[in-house]
Amino acid sequence: MARLTGDFAPVDMEKGWETPPGYVAAMKRKMLQGALDDANRRGRRTSLIRIPPGTRSAGAHDHENVEEALILEGDMTWIRDDGSTVQRLGPMSYVCRPPRRMHGPFVSRNGAMVLEVWYYDPDSPKGLVSNLKDAEVGDFVDLDMATGWETPPGYEPGISRKVLAGTLDEKKKRGRRTSLMRYAPGARVPRVVRHDFVEEVLVLKGELLWTGATDAEVVQRIGPLWYVCRRPGVAHGPFVSPGGCTLVEVCYYPGW
Ligand SMILES: [Fe+2]
Ligand SMILES: [Fe+2]
Repeated sequence: MARLTGDFAPVDMEKGWETPPGYVAAMKRKMLQGALDDANRRGRRTSLIRIPPGTRSAGAHDHENVEEALILEGDMTWIRDDGSTVQRLGPMSYVCRPPRRMHGPFVSRNGAMVLEVWYYDPDSPKGLVSNLKDAEVGDFVDLDMATGWETPPGYEPGISRKVLAGTLDEKKKRGRRTSLMRYAPGARVPRVVRHDFVEEVLVLKGELLWTGATDAEVVQRIGPLWYVCRRPGVAHGPFVSPGGCTLVEVCYYPGW
């Protein structure tokens, strides 16, 4: 079969990890997609951060960009400089942090893996956040995995989405959205899908099968920490998840 564009691939956990500027040496980042243009306050970037057991991050800091972070595994504790605890965080702790919100330092007892999505808002070069609701920005919260799920228009009822932040305006072709997608066991996308926004997908748990005309024809078997970035117009699907799965999706129009 011809190789499809926009295929998922497992994130390489060995190669491509580097200590970002200003981070303690033990912390490593793996870029998945994009770049930030700090001088012109533009751009976006998706990366994974790996924190070994026993790490204490550099001190409190802030950013000029919006910072979304989702803890995928492990533990982190936000502490004060005197070592006292601000917040204990674990898997599925999430933050959408507005520009210039102070945070850290953090310690991790057993290590952690964090998905980070950083961006500037093209509508607000001064760092305001035009397409986020006030309720979406703040400090880390433990995501409520029981509520806030909706089946997106045109999808089967076994597929549901929980929006974490942002808005994707498919009529005006603007904006960005970060969400979780959940497939109940047996749920499927029974057709080839194309859309005009960029879509990054990272599998958090479970297995997703990319199939051909029938379920017996498996094009790709996609598991945890498999990732794809699909350019606009790239065909994908059909998909089925025999045992169910959870994905994180970051969707945006070019320039967002
Ligand atoms: Fe930060
Ligand atoms: Fe898609």
